[in-house]
Amino acid sequence: MPNSIGVPMAKLPTISFSALTLPTKGVAVILMPEDAKLPAVVKGIDKSGQLSRAISIAEFTGKHLASVNLIAPDENLDRLLLLGCGDLNNIKEEGWLRIGGKIKALCAKAARITIIAEPSPKINFTGENLAFVVMGAKLRAYDFDDYKTKDKKPPKTTSISVASNVAPAARKKWKELNGVSDGVIIARDLVNQPANVLGTVEFTRRAQKLSALGVKVEVLAEKEMKALKMDALLGVNQGSVRPPRLVVMKWDGGKVKEKPIAFVGKGVVFDTGGISIKPANSMEDMKGDMGGAAAVTGLMHALAARKAKVNVVGIIGLVENMPDGKAQRPGDIVKSMSGQTIEIINTDAEGRLVLADALWYCQRKYKPKFMINLATLTGAILVALGHHHAGLFSNNDELSENITSAGLDTAEKVWRLPLSTEYDKLIDSKNADMKNTGGRFAGSITAGQFLQRFVNDVPWAHLDVAGTVMGSPKNEYSQSWSSGFGVRLLNRLVANNYE
Ligand code: BES
Ligand code: MG
Ligand code: ZN
Repeated sequence: MPNSIGVPMAKLPTISFSALTLPTKGVAVILMPEDAKLPAVVKGIDKSGQLSRAISIAEFTGKHLASVNLIAPDENLDRLLLLGCGDLNNIKEEGWLRIGGKIKALCAKAARITIIAEPSPKINFTGENLAFVVMGAKLRAYDFDDYKTKDKKPPKTTSISVASNVAPAARKKWKELNGVSDGVIIARDLVNQPANVLGTVEFTRRAQKLSALGVKVEVLAEKEMKALKMDALLGVNQGSVRPPRLVVMKWDGGKVKEKPIAFVGKGVVFDTGGISIKPANSMEDMKGDMGGAAAVTGLMHALAARKAKVNVVGIIGLVENMPDGKAQRPGDIVKSMSGQTIEIINTDAEGRLVLADALWYCQRKYKPKFMINLATLTGAILVALGHHHAGLFSNNDELSENITSAGLDTAEKVWRLPLSTEYDKLIDSKNADMKNTGGRFAGSITAGQFLQRFVNDVPWAHLDVAGTVMGSPKNEYSQSWSSGFGVRLLNRLVANNYE
């Protein structure tokens, strides 16, 4: 069995940038804005007019993602592909990612892809746009096939290059986006890995690799967590043979004494539900119940790789929720690190127990400017929002607005849901300070209320990513079951507001 918890970067194509010339081999992809003329660089190829004919026969006008394909257009090239970009004034980051993903898909059989973008006074391709195109192609190239021994199709594309007179600017932007792309791929891969391969210890090892980028990684084992009285988190792991871990990743890219910003992730490497066991149907998806922790890890990679000018702490609580003779029972009462007691009504509402101690520890130890936690917390968020928005819950309007607008910038969208004292009452318990479930209705909100009891007055947001990090709809730049949701979103949040 392979035991890959690294990222299969070796399978991804190499990326390069060069001056504007037509390649002499492989596939040339010409980026075509809507209603634009053919760029000068292909005029030589169109001597006989066949390219112009193809455009007219295909009724190609350069609409976003429309294409024209010409096989063997001259004695050298294998293929010329015109790819529509639509209206350049209306296309945002994700529009460029989709173009890059589409190119990678349409040219899957080509060893060498050259993407040609010829700016003109009327056509404003920027280096930034082109770097996003390449990012889309790289994200599309990620394929989770570590465990296939038959029908394994090694990727044919080994190199993607961009030829443009804005190549220097594109290369510069790519330095930054390459790190972000790797962060997304790390997050996707962690979620895709099966739980027999990726347990708490293996996840910790993966996070420790970030030290190569200058991230300080600190690991708390059971003994340290016991000493800190993290019994809410520890109770969840009681039925597992794997040891619990709390991993703290620190990136100090900002001013020396500046308070950090903090990201906290739910990392349940597998969620059986525990004694309140889940039905068998789709239980295999619960290997992805560490999607919040995966996003935090991918984000830390992204921020460190692009040397973000900010102080950040990433904290992930790693446990496994298993039924066992030693497992936690419904009716048990645990005392969290905060001192508040919790009556366990349903052992399947375990993520909030992990986060209760992780959030408390985070604010006590690091005094952050704000905390954002990510968690595959409730099935109810799928009922409310499906796969296209993460649920956002917050005690702070400014933070919420910043997250929402980063969501619109990146197309990793969030939708805010309410928190209020009426909902908070639903988790009061007759036997303890609170209970871990609030009944049938408003399940995502009562989960949010529960977390809020552990954040004090620190500006805080909770992203329920149960619908967005896994079971993700495929698109041009992601064919993976896990999207890596959260990495681009929060990287953008940081870049927009905190650097
Ligand atoms: N990990 C699940 C939530 C989940 C469900 C994530 C589907 C992804 C897809 C979480 O631990 C859970 O089991 N939540 C329960 C809470 C309930 C017992 C109050 C749920 O949503 O059913
Ligand atoms: Mg659960
Ligand atoms: Zn869970």
